[in-house]
Amino acid sequence: METIARLHIDTFELTLRDIKQVDPKLLHALSVSVGWPHRDSDWQMLLELGQGLAAVDEIGRVVGTVMWLRYGADFALICMLITLPRLQEQGAGSWLMEKAHELNKGAVFGLNATREAKRLYRSLGYGYEQKILRCQGEATPEAALSAKVEGLVRPAAASDHESLLRLDLAATGHDRSIAYQALLPVSRGQVLVRNDEIVAFSLCRPFGRGHVIGPVIAASEDDAIAVSRAHVETHAGSFLRADTPASNTVFTNFLVGSGMQIYDSATSMGLGRAPFKPLASAGPRRITLASQAIG
Ligand SMILES: CC(C)(COP(=O)(O)OP(=O)(O)OC[C@H]1O[C@@H](n2cnc3c(N)ncnc32)[C@H](O)[C@@H]1OP(=O)(O)O)[C@@H](O)C(=O)NCCC(=O)NCCS
Repeated sequence: METIARLHIDTFELTLRDIKQVDPKLLHALSVSVGWPHRDSDWQMLLELGQGLAAVDEIGRVVGTVMWLRYGADFALICMLITLPRLQEQGAGSWLMEKAHELNKGAVFGLNATREAKRLYRSLGYGYEQKILRCQGEATPEAALSAKVEGLVRPAAASDHESLLRLDLAATGHDRSIAYQALLPVSRGQVLVRNDEIVAFSLCRPFGRGHVIGPVIAASEDDAIAVSRAHVETHAGSFLRADTPASNTVFTNFLVGSGMQIYDSATSMGLGRAPFKPLASAGPRRITLASQAIG
């Protein structure tokens, strides 16, 4: 197995390897050690989508990771930065970030920071902060607020996929087709059709402790609610999650009214510029993330 770099910390000697060359079970064990809910299949999707590095100790344990997903030629979304709790605050996280930056020279960087990691990213120059609320809980559709919406909501079909990609590009400013290639086969979708055109959609897939509603792309929060309600109904009584920018107050109220309380928050950050930017200010935007890792 090829060694990419080495670092001595305390009694550890860390060797950096291509993340795809280490046992995925060890990656899962690392994310469990910091309390993250990812399943093996969540890791699997990320490994198919992106690249990354694993820091391995002398006896083969994975003690740190960082990944990145390339959206288009010049944008890298950093994710899955984790270091083993025993190893933290000794420079391993910064070292992994430095290597990820080096391996993506020339790219614009974005990420979603946990509370723990925000200061570290700020010290690396990240800014353009946007608060993201993690809402989760047992889905309760009967409590969902009713909103009037113009148009027809129906399940997404394979023939809609091009429209979904077009809306996503308008909402994020990036060609995220690689993410959709992984998301679409494992998701159920709803679309809102108005004047024969798809104007909003939502996807929902198994993730972590249950299912996640994301991405939801819409130009208004009412449209976003219209395409999300069916997922709440489908998963009534089971665990559902959605990550939404805090500025979406109406949508957040819908989530809370549907059993998904605000559990935690993260911060979307960019290095040198905002990571995601709608092409038009009144056009489609991200109402929920696919996940914190995928954006
Ligand atoms: C966030 C995380 C990856 C940071 O990893 P880490 O190995 O502790 O990172 P570092 O040691 O490089 O930096 C952490 C802090 O320790 C400080 N530090 C670095 N080297 C140090 C040293 N030798 N002695 C004391 N402090 C040190 C850094 O300045 C940094 O401080 P800051 O937050 O004020 O900038 C780690 O805490 C973690 O895995 N958390 C759980 C998962 C998570 O939230 N990941 C982030 C995803 S967005």
